[in-house]
Amino acid sequence: MPGVPLADTHPVVVTVNGVRRERAVEPRLLLSDFLRHELGLTGTHVGCEHGVCGACTVLLDGDAVRACLLFAVQTDGHEVTTVEGLAEGEELHPLQAAFREAHGLQCGFCTPGVLMTLVPFLAEHPAPTEAEIREALSGHLCRCTGYAGMVEAVKLAARAARHP
Ligand code: FES
Ligand code: FES
Repeated sequence: MPGVPLADTHPVVVTVNGVRRERAVEPRLLLSDFLRHELGLTGTHVGCEHGVCGACTVLLDGDAVRACLLFAVQTDGHEVTTVEGLAEGEELHPLQAAFREAHGLQCGFCTPGVLMTLVPFLAEHPAPTEAEIREALSGHLCRCTGYAGMVEAVKLAARAARHP
């Protein structure tokens, strides 16, 4: 009996958190599913899967993007950074440390995506106003509604970067 034909796959070579990864994937595979299921990087969370909640945010060549709105094949030849790429070994990224210090998270579901938005945001806004911080956070839905702690954490991280 003839077998079911395999779906077409395409080669993808992408650098994820500094490590070159090579896979053959179906063209419809979302970047979020690629990271979680192919590479085991489950720190990238999936909430709405249509670009609204921000839980799946990662960096693509340094810019924050929604991993649920990209296909894995679109990252071929590019660099992706996930939340797993922030800490240096056991040492938290300063933004992660500030979130811990200022109670910027509760259940933590939204946190990886929030952090990945804030890394390039703080690089571009080393001394952000509260309004700028709130605008940056506005692309993320926190089911625990812990936005006040996040704002304080961003202020703390920005201060720490300016006055190490
Ligand atoms: S899961 Fe991608 S924005 Fe919600
Ligand atoms: S901390 Fe729970 S969803 Fe944001």
